Amino acid sequence: MSPDPQRVALVTGGARGLGLACARKLAQEGVRVHLAYRSAGAHIAALEREFGGRVHQADVEREGDWARLAGELLAHEGRLDHFVHAVGEYEHGPLAEVSGPTLQRLFANNVVSAFLGVSALRPALRASRGTVVLFGCAGVDSARARRDAAAYVAAKTALLVLARSWAQEEAEHGVRVNMVAPGLVPHEHASEDTLDPALWQRIPLGRPGEPHEVADVVAWLSSQASSYVTGAVVPIAGGWML
Ligand SMILES: NC(=O)c1ccc[n+]([C@@H]2O[C@H](COP(=O)([O-])OP(=O)(O)OC[C@H]3O[C@@H](n4cnc5c(N)ncnc54)[C@H](OP(=O)(O)O)[C@@H]3O)[C@@H](O)[C@H]2O)c1
Repeated sequence: MSPDPQRVALVTGGARGLGLACARKLAQEGVRVHLAYRSAGAHIAALEREFGGRVHQADVEREGDWARLAGELLAHEGRLDHFVHAVGEYEHGPLAEVSGPTLQRLFANNVVSAFLGVSALRPALRASRGTVVLFGCAGVDSARARRDAAAYVAAKTALLVLARSWAQEEAEHGVRVNMVAPGLVPHEHASEDTLDPALWQRIPLGRPGEPHEVADVVAWLSSQASSYVTGAVVPIAGGWML
């Protein structure tokens, strides 16, 4: 019997934070991981070494970049099993202080980027009966008013509707689509809000999350262990927003 082919993943937002933690976790599990990043910097050379050169520059808000990225990846690997889309800019503040361009940026970054990604990768994901993991935020499925970050949560809520709709549409092709909903997960580049002690006090488990705790769930959603899970939103928030 021939061994199973090595699985291939693409992780966007993969050069830092939660995306990088997911990329490392999947790589530990034997997946060939490709990273996509936006901003060049000294850290990219180290990532090139760590991920065997499978590192691509792309602005995922641009359809042309998606065509190039998908083309490069598939020319190299011939398959794609997992798409982990960890891009998603955050903006704090009441709606009265949010400008039109800011709202448009949040939707372009959180929603349009995912739409373009799934559109570009759909044939490959169908061919492999693969998985998609999208990033929401804690409480995204409750559609509550948000005093602190309504524009951001509105974009994540729109993404959730797409995620569930993709889950429904793609099920017959064997593609599973799920969303993780992190709470406060500080890391070197995360928003200062993740370090706010007043917010920490509202977390039932009494502490913020760690990037590896998000990565563990993403790896599970990308594995056969979750083979009957699609259209789900998995909170990773220590009970925050229950
Ligand atoms: N950390 C948390 O506490 C938390 C909580 C709830 C939800 N989330 C969600 O989880 C996901 C990951 O969070 P994070 O904290 O790791 O985010 P992060 O530190 O802001 O990292 C996001 C990455 O995405 C990249 N990116 C942004 N826009 C891009 C674009 N147009 N094209 C290509 N790459 C782009 C950024 O690249 P640049 O270096 O170029 O900016 C950055 O490397 C996001 O969707 C976020 O909304 C995070």
